[in-house]
Amino acid sequence: MGSKWQRAKRRDPFWRLAKKEGYRARSAFKLLEIDDTYRILGPGRTIVDLGAAPGGWSQVAAERSPGGRVVGIDLQTMFPLEGAEFLRGDFTHAATMERLRALAPHVDTVLSDMSPNISGAYDADHARSVHLAGQALDFAEQVLRPGGDFVCKVFEGELFKPFLDRVRAEFAWVKVTHPEASRKASSEVFVIGKRYKGRSAPEPRGEPTPQDLAGRFELNL
Ligand SMILES: C[S@@+](CC[C@H](N)C(=O)[O-])C[C@H]1O[C@@H](n2cnc3c(N)ncnc32)[C@H](O)[C@@H]1O
Repeated sequence: MGSKWQRAKRRDPFWRLAKKEGYRARSAFKLLEIDDTYRILGPGRTIVDLGAAPGGWSQVAAERSPGGRVVGIDLQTMFPLEGAEFLRGDFTHAATMERLRALAPHVDTVLSDMSPNISGAYDADHARSVHLAGQALDFAEQVLRPGGDFVCKVFEGELFKPFLDRVRAEFAWVKVTHPEASRKASSEVFVIGKRYKGRSAPEPRGEPTPQDLAGRFELNL
């Protein structure tokens, strides 16, 4: 009984396994597979999980990082989870960043399983997903310690390559993977960046250029 979608869900082996193993979402198996292969979680690590609700990835992160710290962030609320802290808010807002810094000043791993609201129009959904992934990368650059790791979901398409190039510029080792638990028809992939190179030093402040001065004094050159 139930809708066609509910029947399909019950036939999905990962959904059934998630229910059996007590995971809040089938997506937990994607992170388990990524970690089995690429080792991005671990004892003592501080992990930030962007787009954490309902909590499948935070559960895996907490299980696999004993003695560490997991902070989930989401626009939606998440029921309390043992071993994880939770901030409700938009991760792009300065106030959310401030709350995170107060909780976890040093971050070893940034995870993002975020999706935009799906419209069904592929090009638009792809563009929104790449935009969100770019914002997750900006966030990672601000909070990760040098040597830290990044995992980010993104929908493949023509804007994917420039995003991947950005990750390649920031991390010493980069891999793209489509875990078995991702639905076969899904265009989602996960970009894994290991060993963050660290924020580049601020640009040296030289003499102002004529253009700087023109802008400052509203001159037309
Ligand atoms: C696919 S779900 C994540 C599932 C989760 N990884 C799990 O295993 O339970 C994507 C989440 O991203 C969140 N999200 C999207 N944009 C966000 C934003 N700007 N700030 C915080 N969360 C966001 C959504 O609210 C949604 O809960």
